[in-house]
Amino acid sequence: MSENNNQKDTHSGLGLIFLIGFMGCGKTTLGRKLASRLGYEFMDLDHILEAQVGMNIADYFSIHGEDAFRKLESEVLKQTVYPKHAVISTGGGLPCFFDNMQWINAHGRSVYIQLSPKTLADRLEHEKTKRPLLRDKYGEALIAFIDEKLQEREPFYKKATFIANGLSLTAEKAEALLK
Ligand code: S3P
Repeated sequence: MSENNNQKDTHSGLGLIFLIGFMGCGKTTLGRKLASRLGYEFMDLDHILEAQVGMNIADYFSIHGEDAFRKLESEVLKQTVYPKHAVISTGGGLPCFFDNMQWINAHGRSVYIQLSPKTLADRLEHEKTKRPLLRDKYGEALIAFIDEKLQEREPFYKKATFIANGLSLTAEKAEALLK
């Protein structure tokens, strides 16, 4: 676990905690557990977007395309009304478009849940129906796709306040890191 800078919350409470990382890294699972430990609200920006447009992300992608999705997810990030303290799970691509990562770090702190392409592929192999970018990719082709995307995305993910090893990260550890 490493800390990218010395930014620490000085007021009581932890403010907004954004969990970022590739699809399948465990943002939602960890986010729910962390929020429940802290007694904070858990928010999932993918779910907020789906509720706003009244359809799931896979359908939104196929009807409107990726560019429209990226604009919308950035608007959802910036226009959602957040409570003072919350744990927020973000879509895997969100930190890598527009100034989203800068916005995240200006409004709270972020944790990058880091995992290798092989581990991500193992987790995602049977979890692809809701994820339009991964459709039709299996086995070695899935690992190669994740490897390439992760190389593109890591420079953005690595702007996170904290970088955590996704293999050993627990809600307890995340809490200790953030306090
Ligand atoms: C995406 C990740 C998904 C979702 C969309 C695009 C991406 O979120 O936002 O399918 O570009 O990595 P999860 O990371 O929650 O699966």
